[in-house]
This record gives sequence, structure tokens and C-alpha cells, in this order.
Amino acid sequence: MEKDKLALFLLLALTLIQGVLGIGVNYGKLANDLPQPAQVAKFLSESTVINRVRLFDANPEILQAFAHTGIDITITVPSDEIPHLAKLNPAQQWVSTNVQRFIPATNIIRILVGNEVLATANKLLISNLVPAMQALHTALVAAPLDHRIKVSTPHSLGILSSSSPPSSGKFRQGYDTHVIKPLLNFLKATNAPFMVNPYPFYDCSTDTVDYALFRPNTGVLDDYTKLQYTNMWDAQLDAVYSAMEALGFEDVEIVIAETGWPSMGDLAQVSVDSQSAAEYNANLVRHVHSGIGTPLMPNRTFETYIFGLFNENLKPGPTCERNFGLFRPNMTPVYDIGILRNTAVADDHPKTLSLIMVVMSLNLAVKIFDMGLI
Ligand SMILES: *[C@@H]1O[C@H](CO)[C@@H](O)[C@H](O)[C@H]1NC(C)=O
Repeated sequence: MEKDKLALFLLLALTLIQGVLGIGVNYGKLANDLPQPAQVAKFLSESTVINRVRLFDANPEILQAFAHTGIDITITVPSDEIPHLAKLNPAQQWVSTNVQRFIPATNIIRILVGNEVLATANKLLISNLVPAMQALHTALVAAPLDHRIKVSTPHSLGILSSSSPPSSGKFRQGYDTHVIKPLLNFLKATNAPFMVNPYPFYDCSTDTVDYALFRPNTGVLDDYTKLQYTNMWDAQLDAVYSAMEALGFEDVEIVIAETGWPSMGDLAQVSVDSQSAAEYNANLVRHVHSGIGTPLMPNRTFETYIFGLFNENLKPGPTCERNFGLFRPNMTPVYDIGILRNTAVADDHPKTLSLIMVVMSLNLAVKIFDMGLI
């Protein structure tokens, strides 16, 4: 190859590697020892392959910090603001204060309205959820920003009344027609994704830990579809898909707002250590990007946000809750899954993820070259 062609080839291969490895994280802030947002933004954009960040609020300092980083940002309307935002004027005010001030320098791509609102069982929040989403969308249309910023809301899998076998997936009665159906109608009409927070970690026991961690295991057969499930992730996503299909919305995109595995916990817990956390997250990243999809959603990829960016020392509950982070507050990795840029293409462990991505990307680069596209 000529010199400049070789340079082009290497550039293409590198770009593809970064693209394939791109991953989202949840940037939670329930801690008193986290670095300044500006440091975090610099670190993520320069030293990691993280290319999407979800915030649990619309913190102006963080939005400012991510300006010109090229990282896609998802912001959240805190749940208690939902009733107030069901009217257009306050919604327009919200968009003006929390979105318009920061774009286009900060690449805000999505507004989430609350988090796991149905799980709160708060009637005032639940009844105003879709109206608030509609009002925010209308405000975006007027801006006009609706082509680049979508409105959605994430759910826990507690919204399902049945999830096993996956083909029996159904939304809870009552919520299905009164909230979920109008919500799915809204998402479909505005081309926004349905968002869920699946955590195989919370559903697994000693018997199912291999199934939850994507390790070799005997699998689980869905007797109705005769489809074989080799991991809990696929089973959980297909239960969500089946529930959506039962309401006639199987064509709405699914995005994973949160998933993760803690690296430390209380003694009695199964597989709560950094090795298991690294395995789960590395296997997950590979799986959602592989293009294999799930048994009911073949060939699909899923935009995914790992929970979370940092260990958060002020989170309440058992020890594991404070140890879901990929990084410690001093920005050193708790474990390495190839998310750091200098290790993503080099020689660190676990080698498999990085190596597979590199080989896939090189193959693609060779193909593009062969086809004479560059
Ligand atoms: C998935 O991809 C395979 C292999 O490329 C193809 O044979 C199959 O038809 C695809 N299935 C769907 C549902 O697109």
C-alpha cells in the first residue's frame, strides 16, 4: 500500500474501533468525593471510549463541562417536577432554561421525564407523566429542536406482571392501558425509544449466576416459542418486547437506560466482586453491539448505558449499592473492560473484548478498502 493510503487505512480502522467500542454511562452524583465536572468531561472525552452520558438531572455545571466534547448527553427532569410540567408554558420555560442555553455546544440528545415513575406508585406523578412528556415535546417542536432531541422515560422491569417465559411478557394490568399504551403511542409518534433498566444482578441466585453473567450454561427453553435462551439479559429484553408486542408496539426502539453489576457487596451476596462485574459489563458491551440481537429481536443492537460511572459513597442501602461504578472517585478504573482509550487497542486484560473489537474493525476496514470506497 502507498504511504498515504496506509495512513488512511489506519485512521479508518481506528475510527471503527472507537465507534464499535462506544458505550454509554450513567453519571450519578450521590457522593461527596467526586471530581469536578470539568475534570470528568475531560477524562471521559480524552481517555475513554465512553461516548454517551446520562445525567439524573440537568445540572448546569455538568452541561457546561460537556460542551465541545462530542459526547451525547441525556438529561433528566426530576420526578417531582412532573406535575408542574404537564402544561405548555412551564415546559417551554424548562426547555429554555435547561436545554436551549447549552446547545449546540453541548450535544443534548434526549430528555428523560423522571426515572422509574411507575414504581413510585404516586398517582399524581403517574397521571401527569405522559402529559408532561407531550408538553416538553411540544416545546421542542416550537424551538424547533424536536428533530435532534427526543423525550422518553425509563422503567424498571417491575412494570411487567409476567416475564417468564419471555414470550409471556405483559405489562401490569391497569398501567397497560392507562399509562403504557398512551406512552407507547407518544414514543411511536415522536420516533423516541422505549427505555428500560434491566438488572440481571437483582434476579440471580447461586443457580443462575452463570446465566446472568453470560457464562457457558445449560440455558432456558421458552416452551411456547421453542426458543433457547443462553443468558438472562436476552430473556429480560424479550419479556419487554413481548409485552410491547401484545399492545401492538413491537416496532418501537428499545434503549437500555441502566444496567450494571456491583464490584463489592455484603458477604452473603452471590458473585459480587470486581471479576464478576468486569465479566458482566464486558460481555454485555460485546453482546449489545454484536448485532446478534435476542431470540425475539434478531440482528438488533441496543444503545446501552452502564450504571454507573463512579462508585457513589452516599447511596443508601446495602454495600453493593455504593459499588456499581466503573471508576473510583479518583478516576482510576475499579476493573478494566477495555473502556480506557490507551488500553482499548493495546495489551491489557480482559484481552478478549478489545481483541474481538479490533479484529472486527480491521476486517471491516479491509472490506471498505477492497471495495475501493477510499
Ligand atoms: C438476521 O441476519 C441473518 C444473517 O445475516 C439473516 O439470515 C436473517 O434473515 C436476519 N434476520 C432478520 C429478522 O433480519
